[in-house]
Amino acid sequence: MHASVAATAVFLLGLIAPSAFAGTAVAPGGWRGWNNVHQMPANGSLLHDPEAHETHIISSNGTKLFSAPANSTEVPQQSGWITYASWLNTNSAPISSFTTTWTVPPAPKTFNGQTVFLFNSIEPSSGNAILQPVLQYGPSAAGGGQYWSVASWYVGPSGTYFTPLVRVNPGDVLRGVITLTMHLGNNYSYVSQFTNIPGTALSIGGINQLTWATETLESYSVTTESDYPQGTTVFSGINLSLSGGKVANVKWSVASDVQDGLTTTVNTDGARGAKITVKY
Ligand SMILES: *[C@@H]1O[C@H](CO)[C@@H](O)[C@H](O)[C@H]1NC(C)=O
Ligand SMILES: *[C@@H]1O[C@H](CO)[C@@H](O)[C@H](O)[C@H]1NC(C)=O
Ligand SMILES: *[C@@H]1O[C@H](CO)[C@@H](O)[C@H](O)[C@H]1NC(C)=O
Ligand SMILES: *[C@@H]1O[C@H](CO)[C@@H](O)[C@H](O)[C@H]1NC(C)=O
Ligand SMILES: *[C@@H]1O[C@H](CO)[C@@H](O)[C@H](O)[C@H]1NC(C)=O
Repeated sequence: MHASVAATAVFLLGLIAPSAFAGTAVAPGGWRGWNNVHQMPANGSLLHDPEAHETHIISSNGTKLFSAPANSTEVPQQSGWITYASWLNTNSAPISSFTTTWTVPPAPKTFNGQTVFLFNSIEPSSGNAILQPVLQYGPSAAGGGQYWSVASWYVGPSGTYFTPLVRVNPGDVLRGVITLTMHLGNNYSYVSQFTNIPGTALSIGGINQLTWATETLESYSVTTESDYPQGTTVFSGINLSLSGGKVANVKWSVASDVQDGLTTTVNTDGARGAKITVKY
C-alpha cells in the first residue's frame, strides 16, 4: 500500500474541494494553487502564446475569456505517479492519435478522502505539461467525491485546466483519445477527450509537440490498500498512430511500486491493440 505524506493534513474546503495545504487542490500532476485551476467553458478551447508566455481560454464564439501567465513553478509533477507504462516517440513524425480503452473499476472498499487517477496521457519532451483524459475517484480541483468521474485535463506552466466532471459508474467502458488536430512548424494543436462521453473534449493550440505517451495510476492521500480498487485495471485497444501514416515501433516500458504491490505489466506490446495491466 502507498502512504501519502499529505494524508494527515486533508480537510474539506466547502463541499467538494479537498486541500492538503490551505489554498491548494489536487490535480493530476500534483497540488495546485486555487488561483490557477480553471474549469473550461462549454465548447471552449485553450490557446497558448509561447511568445507572451501566456495561455488563453477562448470561448466557443472565439472571444478571449481569460489569460494566465506562465509560472514555471507550477509544472506537473510525477510525485503522485504510483505505477505506469510509457513510450517516448523519437521518430521525426509526431504522434497523431493515442487511443486507450478501459473499464471503470469497482469503487474502493474504503474512502479516506483519497484521490485515485487513471489515465492515458501525453507530454512534451521537456515534461513541463501534460494532456490527458482522466478517470478520477475521490475529490480534485475539478470536484468529485466518493464516486468515479471523468474529465480531460491540461496541466502546464500557465495553469491547470479541466472540462466539467462527468459522473461514471463501475463497469462503464471508457475510450480516452488524444488527437493531433494540426501542426505548423513548432505550433501543435491537440484535443483530449473520452470519445464516448459528451462534454469531455479539451482542445489546446500553440503548444510544443507531445512525445511521451503513458498509461498511469496516480494517487494522493491513500492511507490503506483498500483505498484502491480491488484487482486489476486493463488498459486495452491502445493504438498509437504517427502523422503521415507512418508505423511506430512502439515498445512500452514500465515503472512499478513493487514494495507496495502496485505493478504494471505489458501483456501485448506495440502500436496497435496493445494491452497493459495495472494490478492493485
Ligand atoms: C457545444 O457543442 C455541442 C456539440 O456541437 C452542442 O450540442 C452544444 O450545444 C454546445 N454547447 C454550447 C454551450 O455551445
Ligand atoms: C461570446 O461569448 C462570451 C462568453 O460566453 C459572451 O460574453 C459574448 O457576449 C459572446 N460574444 C458574441 C459576439 O456572441
Ligand atoms: C507561481 O506559483 C507559486 C506556487 O503556487 C506561487 O507561490 C507564486 O506566487 C506564483 N508566481 C506567479 C508569478 O504567479
Ligand atoms: C498556432 O496555431 C493556432 C491554431 O491555428 C493559431 O491560432 C495560433 O495563432 C498559432 N500560434 C502561433 C504562435 O503561431
Ligand atoms: C486499434 O487499431 C486496430 C487495428 O487497426 C483497430 O481494429 C481498432 O479498432 C483500433 N482501436 C481503437 C480503439 O481505435
